Amino acid sequence: TETQQIILFSTIISLMLKKKDSYIVCACYRKNGEPPLIKGWIPFLGKALEFRKNSQQFLSQLQQEHGDFFTVLIAGRYITFIMNPFLYPSVIKHGKQLDFHKFSDSAASRTFGYPPVQSGLFPGMSDSIQRSYTLLQGSALDLLTFSMMGNLQQVLRCRFLSSEGSGSDGHWQEAELYEFCKCVMFQTTFNTLYGHSANLCLDQLREDIEKFDGIFPLLMARVPIALLGKTKEIREKLIRFFYPQRMAEWRAPCQFIQTRMDLFQQYDTLQDRDKAAHHFAMLWAAVGNTIPAAFWCLYHLISCPEALEAVRAEIINVVGEKNMKLIFEEDITITRQQLEQMVNLESSINESFRLSSVSMNIRIVQEDFCLCLDAQHSINLRKDDIVALYPQSTHLDPEIYDQPQRFQFDRFVEDGRDKTDFYKCGQKVRYYRMPFGSGATQCPGRFFAMNELKQFVCVTLLMCEMQLPENQQEAMLDNSRAGLGIMPPVNPITFKYRTKKNRGQYEEGGMD
Ligand code: HEM
Repeated sequence: TETQQIILFSTIISLMLKKKDSYIVCACYRKNGEPPLIKGWIPFLGKALEFRKNSQQFLSQLQQEHGDFFTVLIAGRYITFIMNPFLYPSVIKHGKQLDFHKFSDSAASRTFGYPPVQSGLFPGMSDSIQRSYTLLQGSALDLLTFSMMGNLQQVLRCRFLSSEGSGSDGHWQEAELYEFCKCVMFQTTFNTLYGHSANLCLDQLREDIEKFDGIFPLLMARVPIALLGKTKEIREKLIRFFYPQRMAEWRAPCQFIQTRMDLFQQYDTLQDRDKAAHHFAMLWAAVGNTIPAAFWCLYHLISCPEALEAVRAEIINVVGEKNMKLIFEEDITITRQQLEQMVNLESSINESFRLSSVSMNIRIVQEDFCLCLDAQHSINLRKDDIVALYPQSTHLDPEIYDQPQRFQFDRFVEDGRDKTDFYKCGQKVRYYRMPFGSGATQCPGRFFAMNELKQFVCVTLLMCEMQLPENQQEAMLDNSRAGLGIMPPVNPITFKYRTKKNRGQYEEGGMD
C-alpha cells in the first residue's frame, strides 16, 4: 500500500541521511523555552501519516492539547507550527532569521532537476528572476489579460461547438468538471505564457505533468527520485519539451517568459537542459494550483443557484448584452479594469480559495534564536528547523468565519467592495485569507491567477448554461496534498451544459 511505501522510503532515507541530518533525527530532547514536541513512535517518519491523512484535524487537535505553537516531527523534519493568526506577523517579519528563498531554491532544484540558483554558479540570477516577476503584474498584466481572453474564447468556442456535433440546437451535454477545467485552463495558460505552435501536443504534455504532479508530494518530502519508478523518465521528457531550440519556434511567448529565456541565455554555466528545467518548473507553478482553483470556483457556483445568478448578472452588467451576444461570432474584450469591477465573482473565487487552500507557509531557521511571538510568548528555535504557518486553520476558524464549511459567495463583499475586516475575539485579523502565501514571499503570479480565474468563469458562463445533475455525491477535497496549495477534488463530478448560441440568451430554461 501507499502507507507501506512511505514507511519504506522513510526508512531508506533515514539510512541515507548525511551526518548533519542525523543530528536532526536525534534532536528529540527539549531545551528550555522550546515549544512542546510531538514526535510519535515511528523513527524519522514521526507523525507524517497522521498529518497526511487529515492535516487540519490533526493540527487543530494538537492546538487544543498544546496551545497555539508546538513542534511536530514529520518525515525527518522538526516543524514548529504557529496556529494563531495574531502570531503570524512575528514570523512574517523575521525574514533574516526565518528564510524562505533558500528553502524554495533547494526544494525546487531537487524537484524540477536544475542546479540551485543560489549555488554561486549563477551570480545575480536569483535577483534577476525576482525582478522578472514584475512582468506578471502592472501594465504587463494588461497584455496577459488580453492574450488570455483571446485564447480562452478560441479554446472554449471550439470545445462547445464541436461537442454539439451537427449544430447548435441547444441540447444538454454532459462532461466531467475537473477534466473540463484541466483541458481548458492548461491549454489557455500554456498558450498565454509560452506562445503557440502548430506542432505542439499539449494533451500529452498535460498528461505527463499530471503524472509528475501525482508524485510531487513525495518529491517535496525529499524521497529520492531514483526510488520513484518512472518519475525521473517522465521528468526528463517534460524537460525536453522546453529545450531552447524548440522554444525558439513558438510564436508570441509573453514578455515574462521571453525575459526569462533571455536571462538564462546570459549564463554559460547553465546548460540547455537546465534552462529547460526552469521553464518546466514555471509551467508547473502556473497550472498546478490554478486548475484546481478553477474547478472549485465553477463547482461552487453551479452548486448554488443564488451565487450563479448573482455572478452571471454581474458579468452581463459589466460586459454588456451586445458583447455577450457576439461571443460565438468574434472575440470580445474584457479588460483588467472591467474584471476589477466584478466583486461578486472575486468574492466567489476568494471563497473557493478559503475552502480549498492548504498552502503551508514555510520558513527555515537560519540560526539558533529566540522568536518573540507577542508580549507574553517567546520560543527558542534551532538552526535548520522549520517554522510553518498553516492558514487553513484560520480559513476554517468559526470565530472568524461564521459557518466556515459553507460556501457563501458574497462573504468577501461589503458595500459593493472587497470586504477586508474580519474579527476574532473582537480583534481585527490581518491575515485572514492566505492562499498565496505571505509577506515578501507571496506568490508572484497571484494577480495573473486571479484574472485568469475570473476570465475563465466569465467566458464559460457567457457561452453556456451549466447545471449539476441531481443526486450526485458532493465534491470532496483530496487531503493527501496537505501543505501543497489548492487541493484537487477526489471524486469525479458530472455537469450538464448547453451553449447559448442561437438560443434566447436570457431564457434560463429547465431541462429539455
Ligand atoms: C490559484 C493559483 C495560485 C496559487 C494558489 C498559488 C500559490 C502559491 C504559493 C502559496 C506560493 C508560495 C509562497 C510562499 O510560501 O510564501 C507560490 C509561489 C510561486 N508561484 Fe504561485 N500560485 C498560483 C498561481 C501562480 C501562477 C499563475 C504563477 C505564474 C504564472 C505562479 C508562480 C509562482 C512562482 C514563480 C512562485 C515561487 C516564488 C518564489 O520562489 O519566490 N503561481 N504560489
